[in-house]
Amino acid sequence: MEVIYNLSDFREYRNSLDSQSKIIGFVPTMGALHAGHLSLVEKAKKSSEIVIISIFVNPTQFNDPADLMNYPKDIKKDIAKLTPYNPDVIFIPGLKDIYPKPDTRQFDFGNLDKIMEGESRPGHFKGVAQVVSRLFDIVRPHSAFFGQKDFQQLAIIKSLVKQLDYKIEIISCPIVREKNGLAMSSRNMLLSEEARNVAGFIYKVLWEAKESYPSLLPEEISKTAVEKFKNHPDLKLIYFEIIDSESLESGKALNKSSKLVACVAVKINDVRLIDNLIFV
Ligand code: PAJ
Repeated sequence: MEVIYNLSDFREYRNSLDSQSKIIGFVPTMGALHAGHLSLVEKAKKSSEIVIISIFVNPTQFNDPADLMNYPKDIKKDIAKLTPYNPDVIFIPGLKDIYPKPDTRQFDFGNLDKIMEGESRPGHFKGVAQVVSRLFDIVRPHSAFFGQKDFQQLAIIKSLVKQLDYKIEIISCPIVREKNGLAMSSRNMLLSEEARNVAGFIYKVLWEAKESYPSLLPEEISKTAVEKFKNHPDLKLIYFEIIDSESLESGKALNKSSKLVACVAVKINDVRLIDNLIFV
């Protein structure tokens, strides 16, 4: 396992792989690693001959400077957590490696980035698309692993791959949860133990929503879920949406053949958490 801290060393390493025709699996992360990230690494290890993990807290995807400032960072711990998995390379680029000059690219994701995270975090997905495409260009993997935890991000990445014609297979990986159902997230580190216990409520509501389908209509399920969050003393609901898992459309656009997913964002003690659950 090698840890590479700059672009020129990484390029040298990556070029050395060109003659070897090995399957390269890539796991991009922003660090503060937990079992969710590690499940992606495990999956990458199973299906790739070379596994590359990147750790880069991407400023262009943070619309709130305070959120960027508070984002947990602990590179030493991250390296220690990855060591037992023995990936080939942990790539930890600097800001200038990723953005030698400001990235002014715009993308058109249609409806995909207009709703939910896109609506409540303006510019977020443009930043995600910028960094992921830059990382894809540098790492040149055959496959890249992303968590369903960030359901909308996964849809954006798939669209990005199509638009820019990357020959990269996008592998989606299931959500890893705490015992109480709370989806693992780097942001959970910012919560007290008590708040983490309380946040188990998010999964409970998602689960009850799933259980009430198809006997209730999606709009009835949403209404009930929104009420539950509104009545909760510690959770502030940002959105709860039931959408088509492919088009991410909601409301009238849903039909009987839609595969539904319930997506939610809440704040607890000013920490923003997202989660989702696929129906059926
Ligand atoms: P980050 O939040 O660090 O997440 C890295 C990857 O881990 C993402 O694909 C995310 O969906 C996945 N992940 C996070 N929590 C998970 C969980 N509980 N179960 C399964 N997978 C989980 O997502 C990002 O970073 C960034 O936006 C990035 C793609 C790296 C671009 O900067």
